[in-house]
Amino acid sequence: MLAVMALPFVGSVCAQDMPKPEAKRINGYTPMWWKEAVVYQVYPRSFKDSNGDGIGDLPGITSKLDYLKELGVDVIWLSPHYDSPNADNGYDIRDYRKVMKEFGTMADFDALLAGVKQRHMKLIIDLVVNHTSDEHQWFVESRKSKDNSYREYYFWRDGKGPEGNQQPNNYPSFFSGSAWQYDPATKQYYLHYFAVKQPDLNWDNPKVRAEVYDLMKFWLDKGVDGFRMDVIPLISKPAGLPDLTSEQLKDVGKAYANGPHMHEYLQEMNRNVMSKYDVMTVGEALGISLEETPLMVGDDRHELNMIFNFDAVRINRDGRQWKSWTLPELKAIYARHARELDVHSWDTVFLSNHDNPRLVSSFGDDSTQYRVASAKLIETMLLTLRGTTFIYQGDELGMTNYPFKGIGDYDDIEAKNGYKADVETGKVSEAAYLDNLRHMSRDNARTPMQWDGSANGGFTTGKPWLTVNPNYKEINAAEEVEDKQSIYNYTKAMIALRHATPVLVYGSYEDLDPMNPSIFAYTRSLGIDRYLVVLNFSGNPVTYKIPGGLKPTKLLITNLGSKEVDTSTLHLKPWEARVYWYPSAASAGMPRGGSIAPGEEGAMTKVLKCRDVGMDCSFEARGNSEEEIMAQAAEHARKDHGMEKIPTEIATAVKAAIRDE
Ligand code: NOJ
Repeated sequence: MLAVMALPFVGSVCAQDMPKPEAKRINGYTPMWWKEAVVYQVYPRSFKDSNGDGIGDLPGITSKLDYLKELGVDVIWLSPHYDSPNADNGYDIRDYRKVMKEFGTMADFDALLAGVKQRHMKLIIDLVVNHTSDEHQWFVESRKSKDNSYREYYFWRDGKGPEGNQQPNNYPSFFSGSAWQYDPATKQYYLHYFAVKQPDLNWDNPKVRAEVYDLMKFWLDKGVDGFRMDVIPLISKPAGLPDLTSEQLKDVGKAYANGPHMHEYLQEMNRNVMSKYDVMTVGEALGISLEETPLMVGDDRHELNMIFNFDAVRINRDGRQWKSWTLPELKAIYARHARELDVHSWDTVFLSNHDNPRLVSSFGDDSTQYRVASAKLIETMLLTLRGTTFIYQGDELGMTNYPFKGIGDYDDIEAKNGYKADVETGKVSEAAYLDNLRHMSRDNARTPMQWDGSANGGFTTGKPWLTVNPNYKEINAAEEVEDKQSIYNYTKAMIALRHATPVLVYGSYEDLDPMNPSIFAYTRSLGIDRYLVVLNFSGNPVTYKIPGGLKPTKLLITNLGSKEVDTSTLHLKPWEARVYWYPSAASAGMPRGGSIAPGEEGAMTKVLKCRDVGMDCSFEARGNSEEEIMAQAAEHARKDHGMEKIPTEIATAVKAAIRDE
């Protein structure tokens, strides 16, 4: 008889109690609080307005902290809250040490942070330092004269051509048109990868880097717990700013990312700032491939903790064009992640944020019939896949895309600039442009939170800056918090399950059926514990035979009330999601799982050979306690050896082996 005893590993519900870096490894991973955390993104403009001006604000967020705590959130990521003229809704910062006046005051920020800490949550803030606002004091100075001491904080170049009136090179802006803007004051052009009002900072200037590190410390010293770093791979510009080739122009994000000094600057930032605090960092890694990811997040790289990779969230787009996608394609992305990012490179998992359309509208089915089931299914997936889970505000309610009609319904600079560049020039028909925009517009995610069934969804008593989705009477937090069957309460239960289940954080991942067009079935496993997640990603019922004939024994959670256990044939309803647990002993015939390798650092396993207990068979039992292993051994003895009960001398030998005597 072979017995493997896996000691219980550390698990925790409260982020603050989470294991310290020096803790033992789990499945090869160094446990960290930010790996176990569930992060919730707040887009302050749209979260909750406290003063009736129609714009969400910091006191509004503070008033909803209990709601977030109740949901089970560990970390709040606050999109930019800094002073800004709002050309790009706060991603154009005028003063990094001041709060946007529409959002409140520094005292309001301090109160928010205190409220977060009081509830044992953490707060990370957006760090937008690839560019500033053109109204930032540095740029105001920089544009004054060629010899201004701030001139080299930005990129200034002469125009090309005999008259000097052509852009210095062919770089396009992400928000349409050229990335260069002519400035009459000094008759030169400045570089802006995003809007004209977002000039790019020159990170090659050590003074710029020192300023950034200082402002980071300003916020960390206040007590924030880290940063989400906006388009961070763009900070190091291509040497000499050469024209892009036609091939590079097909993927500008890639061409701009990964400049020659990017790693050097991130390591410097880490040395000067992050290494001095217990913080979490997540980079928005536009243009970074999966293969390049370990260079930014590897344990030994001392750069960032993790990054957002967009392969999954953008599976429904070809550049800016909406397209259909298939489940095997999505599964292939997650399988690639599991392959490329080993135990030294932590991953993130998310399918929505303020730059993408609504979760349920993009990845589920937002029809009345399936919105609830499909939203729950996606939450099940996001909270059982590898990586730190990020939830975007309102997705826990199953908020949907907005029924946009004309271009006048949109606020986003990307949408409006695109309209000018594509429709007004006759390149694209208005109908085609609007049809595409309706699916992918960032404004879908930016409509105000739907708090209750009162006017404007309870977001504001004034006129909201962006219209509230008209479905707020059916979809809102007040109803969902009360309704036990709601998406909110399901998400809460899923978060609780993830918190209580370290295997869902650190366990190995295996896709059992990669080519299945409608079922996503995967396991997360570690030691004796195996979890099987089965998701019917379709509007059809499916009779599903679990590969390997596995008969899972315990149903932990399901979105549609199923009770099926102990069978390898599952009858799944449309958009049904289930999470099962089963001990490895029940996994005979299963494809290889992720058990702990003997001898692995911190694996905490004990392997006992059959001959130790005088039996010639290959049965394997794993357990957290002597009782668990003995129960499996007894069952095996009965079934496979016809023994009523384990003979005393064998039982004694097994117990001794378990205790390592
Ligand atoms: C990425 C942000 O997520 C997006 O909202 C913004 O427009 C650009 N960076 C520019 O800052």
